[in-house]
Formats: sequence, structure tokens, C-alpha cells
Amino acid sequence: MEKIIEIKNLSFEYEIGVKTIDNISFRIEKGSYTTILGHNGSGKSTIAKLLMGLLEKKSGDIIVGGMTLTEETLADVRGQIGIVFQNPDNQFIGATVRDDIAFGLENTCVEPTLMDDIINEYAQKVNMLEFLDHEPTKLSGGQKQRVAIAGILAMSPSIIILDEATSMLDPKGRHEINALVHQLNKDRDITILSITHDIEEAALSDYVILLSDGHVIDSGKPEEVLMKQEEIESLSLDVPFAYKISKGLQQQGIKINQYIDREKLVRELCQYNLKK
Ligand SMILES: Nc1ncnc2c1ncn2[C@@H]1O[C@H](COP(=O)(O)OP(=O)(O)O)[C@@H](O)[C@H]1O
Ligand SMILES: [Mg+2]
Repeated sequence: MEKIIEIKNLSFEYEIGVKTIDNISFRIEKGSYTTILGHNGSGKSTIAKLLMGLLEKKSGDIIVGGMTLTEETLADVRGQIGIVFQNPDNQFIGATVRDDIAFGLENTCVEPTLMDDIINEYAQKVNMLEFLDHEPTKLSGGQKQRVAIAGILAMSPSIIILDEATSMLDPKGRHEINALVHQLNKDRDITILSITHDIEEAALSDYVILLSDGHVIDSGKPEEVLMKQEEIESLSLDVPFAYKISKGLQQQGIKINQYIDREKLVRELCQYNLKK
């Protein structure tokens, strides 16, 4: 399988002698939806900044699309990645939402005649169509996140990094935006690296990298990683809701499988009910 991002023995320090990122290695498969899951302060945003070449590593290698990140390759590496930062305020350049999405598009090869249609399409996808003439800085946190996501999705980069990009949305809004990202991941073969402490989002991804205090402590398919209740809870994270329910039902003597995906659990429960 083709790897689009490879991190090899990466270390980074903000302060001399304090390893914020401590010798981590992982690979991300092209076209996958991968989550980096970890508690606050575990080093998630630092990894995102290292990948974009915004911070200078202490040691190790970052390889994106076959290119090792160096001063010479920095522009080419960044050209492959669209990133939504944790704090959307730092990301707006345009005076209006429309200008802001347009600004990102101007840096791609989009034909100017198509630009308006693309801006409308993505503003609609994130439910911000009626805000196109508003000032980004005056929007709510959740609306800002929607605009930042629209701007990146519209550019259709080969890799999208989302750093807690839906943290200010309510659960319904978060679910909608995550579904949109999943759809683009499938339809356009865009690799998604979502950085989150939302275990429910991680449960729906292809691959999870579990981060704690600057170390990768586990990685694999969500079914493999997220059912390790002790490990998950030791990181101050909560196991997925579906897992708790399916385990609870098992303990009540109901013979069903264990799930981390709510929809799969609901399907089995419906069948279980029919069998009775
Ligand atoms: N600019 C900085 N200077 C010094 N320490 C920092 C800086 N940014 C983050 N840190 C520290 O590095 C650690 C990892 O931070 P961060 O990558 O933001 O974690 P996360 O995104 O997982 O919450 C934390 O202990 C944080 O306090
Ligand atoms: Mg962070």
C-alpha cells in the first residue's frame, strides 16, 4: 500500500531538554482517513506544525508524497497539504467569507471563471452560503471553523490536515462536517489526517494513531485500538459509546458482538430483536 506521509524517529523540543515529541514514527496510507487521538498537551498540534515545516524538528525525518521535508522541498511539501488550524482566527485573510475562500483558490490552478461556482458549492456544503458577504472575524467560533474547512476543501489538496477543526461545533454540526469530510475522502481520494480528542470521530476513521506525552503508544484499525479500555482510560479518554453499550449488554447475558461504531451496533440490535 502506498504511503503518503512517513514520519521516522521524529523528535522536537520547545525548550532544551524537554522532548515534546519523543522519537515518534508512523506512516499514513494514501487515501486513508487517519486520526491522531490524544489528550490535551499530548503533542498533536506540534506534529501538525512540524508536518507543515512551521517548526524545526530536532531529529528524524518527515516524508510527504515521497519528498523528504527540507528547506528546499518546503514549498512543494506545503503545496500538497491543506491544513485547518486549531484556532481558525489565525487563518483568515479575506475581508469577507467569499474573499477568504477565493484567496485560497487563487493559489491553486482553478480557472477564474469557475471560482464563483466553487465558492458557492463549498459554502453551501458547510452551510455558510448566506454568510458569504460577512466578515470572518465577526462569526462565531463554530461558523469560523465551517468557513476555514470550506476554504481548504475547495482547494482540493491531496492531503488535508484537520487540527481539532470541528471542536467548536455542536454534536450535530460536527457530525455533518465529519460526514462531508468522509465523503470527499472517498469521492476524491483525498488523504485525511484528523487530529482530535473525539473518540467517536476516531471510531469512524480507517486508522488511529494514539498519542500520549509525545509518544505513539498504539496504532492500528479503530476496532483494534479503541476497545482496549484500560489503555484508553489511562489516557483520560473515554471508550466509544457503542463499545460501552455493547459490553454492558453482553454483561446482561445478551449475545451480541462488541462494536465501536454506533450504526453497526444498531443494525445488530435490530437483527437480535427479530431473532427473538
Ligand atoms: N509555543 C510553545 N512553547 C512552549 N511549549 C509549548 C508551545 N506550544 C505547545 N507547547 C507545549 O507542548 C506540549 C504539546 O502541545 P500541543 O502540541 O499543542 O498539544 P495538543 O495539540 O495535543 O493539545 C504541551 O505541553 C504544550 O504546553
Ligand atoms: Mg492542539
